[in-house]
Amino acid sequence: MSATTNKKLLDWVNEVVAMCQPDHVVWCDGSKAEYDRMTNSLVKGGTFIPLNEDIRPNSFYCRSDPADVARVEEFTFICSEREEDAGPTNNWADPKEMKEKMRGLYGGCMQGRSMFVIPYSMGPIGSPIAKVGVELTDSAYVVVNMHIMARVGTKVLEALGDSDDFVRGIHSIGAPLIKPNQSDVPWPCNAENKYITHYPETREIWSYGSGYGGNALLGKKCHALRIASVQARDEGWMAEHMLILKLTSPEGTVKYVAAAFPSACGKTNLAMLEPTVEGWKVECIGDDIAWMKFGEDGRLYAINPEAGFFGVAPGTSMASNPNAMRTLHANSIFTNCAITPDGDIWWEEIGGEEPKELFDWLRRRWTPDSKRKASHPNARFTTPAAQCPVIAPEWEDPAGVPIDAFLFGGRRATTIPLVTEARDWNHGTFLGAVMSSEMTAAAAGTVGTLRRDPMAMLPFCGYHMGDYLAHWIKIGQKGDADKLPRIFYVNWFRKDEDGKWLWPGFGENSRVLKWVVERCAGKVDAIETPFGLAATKEALDLDGLDMVDEDIDILLQADNAALLSEIEDMRAHFAKFGDKMPPELTAELDALEARLQG
Ligand code: GTP
Ligand code: SPV
Ligand code: MN
Repeated sequence: MSATTNKKLLDWVNEVVAMCQPDHVVWCDGSKAEYDRMTNSLVKGGTFIPLNEDIRPNSFYCRSDPADVARVEEFTFICSEREEDAGPTNNWADPKEMKEKMRGLYGGCMQGRSMFVIPYSMGPIGSPIAKVGVELTDSAYVVVNMHIMARVGTKVLEALGDSDDFVRGIHSIGAPLIKPNQSDVPWPCNAENKYITHYPETREIWSYGSGYGGNALLGKKCHALRIASVQARDEGWMAEHMLILKLTSPEGTVKYVAAAFPSACGKTNLAMLEPTVEGWKVECIGDDIAWMKFGEDGRLYAINPEAGFFGVAPGTSMASNPNAMRTLHANSIFTNCAITPDGDIWWEEIGGEEPKELFDWLRRRWTPDSKRKASHPNARFTTPAAQCPVIAPEWEDPAGVPIDAFLFGGRRATTIPLVTEARDWNHGTFLGAVMSSEMTAAAAGTVGTLRRDPMAMLPFCGYHMGDYLAHWIKIGQKGDADKLPRIFYVNWFRKDEDGKWLWPGFGENSRVLKWVVERCAGKVDAIETPFGLAATKEALDLDGLDMVDEDIDILLQADNAALLSEIEDMRAHFAKFGDKMPPELTAELDALEARLQG
């Protein structure tokens, strides 16, 4: 039974049913009963293993097909009408041709399965910044994850009413059950054919072949970043790959900080950190995506469009991210970590005693002698944001929170200092534009390779990157300089010659946050350097840190010679964007080069 009279929605659902030919159509209501029903059926079908109720109540363990473990950037397409609107950093295909190909794959692809209709809201329902989408999927795993990651079900249909203003997402794992009595596998997917395709003009997403993360939970990267970035460009707002946190000083002054780091570079960790600096408090608004609009007072207001965290599991522990550990104590889904004999999850660096025996993400017995990782490096937890003990009371405020500072950052073992303040908006935009990071396991590909990833949006920008950078410049022109967020560039990942972290990171990053807001308040000094305004040893609170002076000196300074040797690469990076490259940023690059040579 459909739960709506929205004719546009019903017509579209019928079209997709005719194409994909599912055995049943299920309209998701978003209720707890539905969630329980679906997790039960996932357990029965062998996809989920219930975890030990005494240790981790109402939680499930899941292992994917080894051929389906991360986002697939190579098979992700922006199918804009004109190729130049996708730009040089996206894969482009003609929308008609791609749809033709996708229709070929979708034909009968849901036979033997149910098709679930998931109405979802990105952002608190009713917020002027929120947007509605509908995902049609043949994956029950997607349904239960979407229950956690977004607001889903009947209440969204009610908010949508008869409006045509919703993003249409089709998702199939591409594994019909067509032979008589064909039994299902725990993680059906299509290992050979994966396509994650976007049609920005018509606000559509067609995804095929993968059931994992951003490939399949279409509200997240496909909608909230790739499609939303296009809407944001058209309508004058921002859709960014940013965490949002609330920082309260010992005097009770509240500041909001949003930070863009590439995938698996520390957003979830920073978003809910436990400060080591006495008297300071961090609360979480969001850990991955920020949608921002100018308020009537001229400030930029941000909402977290999501309702849950889809976080990197390995490395998460009571020492590194205690608030994530507390969040995932119950009601969570764990994908591609390991499982203990008593039915709890385990991953590398989770802390505590090393288990004597496990079953790993590849379903094999594992012991400490196994000499291999028990969990996949992109193993993830799905957990409700509302369970986070430091979730800010205003995290669902429909008006959003006013942002005081933006941080950019990536993984750089050398060259880039711990923290640099931009001189002004355009200089900050420049730092974001040349931002670079060593690649991680969040995307299939070469881990460790250095790439330029403007504003951590390289895999997520739904249009031409040159136009995206111009949009940033335009936002700067639209806002008053004293009301716009101040911009900083951070790097938690500097290493010494032996490959050890120079900076302790995690909770200690609160020292940098403190410097950032004290800079915003004009309370501490900074020194001019070619790269930007650097923190001094005196201004940065290093009390009680067990670090030698030489390491601090290295950490706080850019390696100017190394930066100079990167200028050519920055020029090549900008040259890719041709005449769409904003002249303001080329001027910033020239100025940086001149300062480095001077
Ligand atoms: P996505 O969910 O992929 O967008 O990633 P994210 O940006 O939220 O990254 P996350 O916070 O999950 O961190 C990814 C990895 O970086 C984990 O293994 C963390 O332990 C590690 N990490 C996070 N913060 C720090 C830090 O300050 N220092 C060091 N050395 N590692 C960190
Ligand atoms: C990322 O890769 O940035 C993620 C995980 O947040 S995914 O949802 O798979 O995109
Ligand atoms: Mn992310």
